[in-house]
Amino acid sequence: MRIAVVASPTEVGSLAAQVVERVLRAGASVLGVATGSTFVPVYEQLARVHERDPFDTSRLHFVLLDEYVGLPATHPNRYGNEIVRLIADPLGVPPDRVLAPDVDASNLESACRSYETLLRELGGADLQLLGLGRNGHIGFNEPGSSPTSRTRLVHLTPSTIDANRRFFECIEPPSAVITQGIATILESKQVLLVATGHGKREAVRRFLTGSLDLDLPATALWLHPNATAVLDRESARDHDG
Ligand code: GLP
Repeated sequence: MRIAVVASPTEVGSLAAQVVERVLRAGASVLGVATGSTFVPVYEQLARVHERDPFDTSRLHFVLLDEYVGLPATHPNRYGNEIVRLIADPLGVPPDRVLAPDVDASNLESACRSYETLLRELGGADLQLLGLGRNGHIGFNEPGSSPTSRTRLVHLTPSTIDANRRFFECIEPPSAVITQGIATILESKQVLLVATGHGKREAVRRFLTGSLDLDLPATALWLHPNATAVLDRESARDHDG
């Protein structure tokens, strides 16, 4: 695990964008994308780099880490729509190359299996981006998730539903999602975890102990041979390394 602690969320954005840029310039064709406020500066920075010195995105696919179940397909909070707006559009990747589990399917279990198949057919993510939940989740793998879990339907914990409430204006946030499992995430060729702000401090402190803790799903990333964490000073304040 490579760990970088930098001064601010903006610097986290720059450094994380550099990691993504390097992978894309090396010819990656599958980028695993995450949402959440932590990624706003990352995608802004990446869009800026692309505008200045474009990289080839003609073969690039985005694969979503997770998606809400129960929102209409055009809802702005659907993660697929956020990804189109925040990063696919700026990088010139058409919406049909933004791939997600079929959360509108009548059979969600089979939709989860199909997404696993799709990821396998694409050869897996060259780089999977990951945010960190306050409770240590990655994707929507809540505490207690097995390191062998695959893409599946998850019912969110009350604290995660509450954390998502800030993104929803007039309706209750969905309580169900489909998320890549921990084993699915670990099959990506490279993983990049980003976390910022004091709200993540406790999760970051436990993550940085470096030992697998089922109650803190992000610790599974220590099992990955090519993993990087980019943190800001606020989130890593209790880290002395
Ligand atoms: C949601 C997403 C996660 C993300 C987390 C952190 O739970 N499903 O993938 O890591 O939010 O969000 P934020 O960056 O807004 O703190």
